[in-house]
Amino acid sequence: MADAEAFRRVDRDAYPSPSLHLGFGLVAYVGLMEVARLQPGKTVFVSSAAGAVGGLAGQIARLTGARRVIGSAGSAAKAAHLTGRLGFDAAFDHHDGPVLDRLREAAPDGIDVYFDNVGGEQLRAAVQVMNEHGRIALCGALQQQSTGRPDPGPGDPMDIIAKRLTLRGFTVGEHLERAAEFGERFRGWLRDGSIVYDETVIDGLLDAPAALADLVRGRYTGKTVVRLGVEGDRDADR
Ligand SMILES: NC(=O)c1ccc[n+]([C@@H]2O[C@H](COP(=O)([O-])OP(=O)(O)OC[C@H]3O[C@@H](n4cnc5c(N)ncnc54)[C@H](OP(=O)(O)O)[C@@H]3O)[C@@H](O)[C@H]2O)c1
Repeated sequence: MADAEAFRRVDRDAYPSPSLHLGFGLVAYVGLMEVARLQPGKTVFVSSAAGAVGGLAGQIARLTGARRVIGSAGSAAKAAHLTGRLGFDAAFDHHDGPVLDRLREAAPDGIDVYFDNVGGEQLRAAVQVMNEHGRIALCGALQQQSTGRPDPGPGDPMDIIAKRLTLRGFTVGEHLERAAEFGERFRGWLRDGSIVYDETVIDGLLDAPAALADLVRGRYTGKTVVRLGVEGDRDADR
């Protein structure tokens, strides 16, 4: 149960699938445009780039004029998915040796914007590869979220100071005023086929806990949603 004010009426015809209202694109959009202040011509790195937020962040960076978009993911197949279906310029498997080495290979001219979903080793590597005045949008902490282990943080403060980097955490709820502008652009990209949107639908609440565990283990690409009101849920209610 929740108060009526907690609900938002949505336009049923706005998107091909109702789950598109769930807002992961807006997270990516405000992280890039508002928090990292992405400008055309910049090099962007996105971690967990085959995930729901990351896949859209990389594509939105490209569509808004990034010169080079680099992604990391948890397998060679996912890295191939990034450079293939999602149109990233370069991608690597974050298990494939030190992240710092992979990132330096993928970004020989450095990084200007890092969209961070992960923290941990990937954040520390990004700090080292960032260009002067680079900006990091801190969106998620998947390394800590998935292992439960504390994250020692972004690394050498002298590196951050010397390069005059900005690291800024954000929550999408503070930027809802950009939802209408984003929705208009996103619908345009979907209509003209310039953005790819992947989702896996899990039928019924009963399978949701296992799906959540699989999500954290990296089984899916794109967004994972649970469809309510299917037969199993009704049986469980009785
Ligand atoms: N700031 C906000 O307002 C806001 C809003 C929504 C979501 N978020 C956060 O944004 C992040 C991304 O959300 P999402 O829903 O798109 O999740 P997601 O990226 O789809 O998360 C699942 C993926 O996490 C990756 N992962 C798991 N353990 C990892 C580890 N130890 N190191 C690196 N990657 C690991 C796996 O990808 P690989 O197999 O590729 O490693 C897995 O497929 C999450 O941290 C979420 O909490 C923030």
